[in-house]
Amino acid sequence: MKISVTASIAVKISVAASLATLAGAAVAASNPHRACCAALAADTQLHGKVFAPNSTQYDAQLDTYYSANAAQHAWCMVLPESTTDVQATVKILTKEQCPFGIKAGGHSAWKGSNGIAQGVTVDFGYMNATSYDPETGIVSIQPGARWGSVYEFLNQYDVTVVGARTSVVGVGGFTTGGGYSFHSNSHGFACDMVVNWEIVLADGTIVNANSKKDADLWKAQKGGSGNLGFVTRIDQQTVNGTQLWGGFTSYDLSERDIVFDAYLAFVEATVENSPDQIIVALYYDFTGFSIRSIMTNNQGIANTPAFDVFLSLPNISSTVTSGPESEIIPQFTGPTPLGLYANWFTGMATNTLEALTIIDELHHEYAGKMQAAAPTSNFSTLIEFQPVTNTMVDNSDKRGGNVLGLERVVADGPVLMWLVSLTVDTEENQEIILPIAQEFVAAINQQEQAAGHFIDWVYLNYAWGDEKPYSYYGQANLDLLETVSHKYDPKGVFQKLRQTGFKFS
Ligand SMILES: Cc1cc2nc3c(=O)[nH]c(=O)nc-3n(C[C@H](O)[C@H](O)[C@H](O)COP(=O)(O)OP(=O)(O)OC[C@H]3O[C@@H](n4cnc5c(N)ncnc54)[C@H](O)[C@@H]3O)c2cc1C
Ligand SMILES: *[C@@H]1O[C@H](CO)[C@@H](O)[C@H](O)[C@H]1NC(C)=O
Ligand SMILES: *[C@@H]1O[C@H](CO)[C@@H](O)[C@H](O)[C@H]1NC(C)=O
Ligand SMILES: *[C@@H]1O[C@H](CO)[C@@H](O)[C@H](O)[C@H]1NC(C)=O
Ligand SMILES: *[C@@H]1O[C@H](CO)[C@@H](O)[C@H](O)[C@H]1NC(C)=O
Ligand SMILES: *[C@@H]1O[C@H](CO)[C@@H](O)[C@H](O)[C@H]1NC(C)=O
Repeated sequence: MKISVTASIAVKISVAASLATLAGAAVAASNPHRACCAALAADTQLHGKVFAPNSTQYDAQLDTYYSANAAQHAWCMVLPESTTDVQATVKILTKEQCPFGIKAGGHSAWKGSNGIAQGVTVDFGYMNATSYDPETGIVSIQPGARWGSVYEFLNQYDVTVVGARTSVVGVGGFTTGGGYSFHSNSHGFACDMVVNWEIVLADGTIVNANSKKDADLWKAQKGGSGNLGFVTRIDQQTVNGTQLWGGFTSYDLSERDIVFDAYLAFVEATVENSPDQIIVALYYDFTGFSIRSIMTNNQGIANTPAFDVFLSLPNISSTVTSGPESEIIPQFTGPTPLGLYANWFTGMATNTLEALTIIDELHHEYAGKMQAAAPTSNFSTLIEFQPVTNTMVDNSDKRGGNVLGLERVVADGPVLMWLVSLTVDTEENQEIILPIAQEFVAAINQQEQAAGHFIDWVYLNYAWGDEKPYSYYGQANLDLLETVSHKYDPKGVFQKLRQTGFKFS
């Protein structure tokens, strides 16, 4: 054990040293690639934390991206280990005018969402610690942590967090983009439970933004993603108890309409702060189509009355059970293999049978087209239906609000948020199938529009690179983001030099 630790430090130092030798070279000034990486590697604070292509650490980080599309080969990677390291990094990026990307858990799928090819990737993978204060009930999480590790750590205190429904997802991207959880009816989005953000601004200053101090930044960061600074610590109010009831229940395809009706009625009947939530998922791969529900109760209570209709439907199989989130959520995670060609798209429609049916019928049509176009490829499509409810949005507002702009969206009641995910085995097959998936998504929006069911809102954490989520967040929220950006990042570093993720401007 000791030997391998020493060896890895030795490699770090030698890579850093080889980059540092470039620092004074005449070529550096004229070559931004070398100037940025050399300046980072030459910084005393960052010694052994800047990695060149083909180093062990660089290659290991490339293997942590969920989607092969996102795993871009940066000029070099910085792997900060502390807030001080992030301060040193941002000062150099700003001074040298280096284009950069921000990566936390690396679970955004599109090319350019987190890693960068023409620039420096700041990868929070080594800043993944969690600590808890039983006095205040506040958990402090570094952005590179994965939710599974947070749930496991909190078990000893009998508390949990409003976090992801999959254990492998990163805290940084999830929380700064919103964060839809099994607790969202009860408490809002993950960002709504954040009582304090520690943020390193473009000039290297550390700000602790909360409801009492720098409250404008606190609110804007709830949905602000990478637009405002590097988030280096997330202080979140915890939730009592760790128990979750839930699982996958599969139905025969012939039951589609009664499953859809049960979903719609469940959503309409959502009570304030309900612990119960539902997802309906449609799936296709070479074995055919399937349909299932994901019922959950975030207090660990089985078979609550809200699920009466679902529980009365004939099912093929079911995995529902109760246990701590740290054990139930890995079940939903499944294998989630890394390094496949994953692509996510999202949109919204009314909570109506016609809206669901349009998507299901288009799914059958387009999955068939994809299979016919690439008959030997191993790909899958996953459609998820999940609601945005009034109680979610009320809970956001009660906690100070965020910038998602959902108040307008739920003004007439709960709505359908749909997710289309396409996963393909090889780049060659993706080249054939992805354009068909894009036609599928366009067809959903066209048909929902024609039927009067289209709703103009896009969830950042599920969006494809061209979906412009911020254009739907509303003028007041965009004004807040703009004001906060001018105030805390007057040179616009996170608008201009940051080249990954979504921009509000
Ligand atoms: C298997 C799977 C399950 C998922 N389940 C859910 C779910 O239950 N609910 C849900 O809402 N979403 C879910 N998502 C979507 C998920 O929220 C997004 O993919 C999210 O971006 C993942 O966070 P990450 O840290 O892994 O992101 P990354 O891909 O590393 O980063 C995404 C973006 O966040 C910004 N960012 C990251 N870290 C920081 C930081 N420290 N400071 C400033 N900006 C930062 C970056 O600019 C980047 O553009 C899921 C995704 C997958 C692949
Ligand atoms: C990394 O290694 C690969 C394979 O050995 C090689 O083709 C590539 O040129 C190397 N890249 C750099 C930047 O050294
Ligand atoms: C944090 O990251 C390191 C390096 O990847 C890893 O070895 C460790 O297990 C991670 N810790 C947690 C709590 O996930
Ligand atoms: C959570 O548990 C703590 C300690 O048992 C208690 O003081 C607090 O009131 C509980 N909070 C809620 C919201 O139930
Ligand atoms: C699934 O069907 C079985 C057999 O009819 C039944 O006992 C069970 O309660 C059902 N489970 C769910 C979650 O619907
Ligand atoms: C298809 O890909 C999935 C996911 O990687 C894998 O589990 C499965 O074994 C593959 N099937 C075939 C037939 O190649």
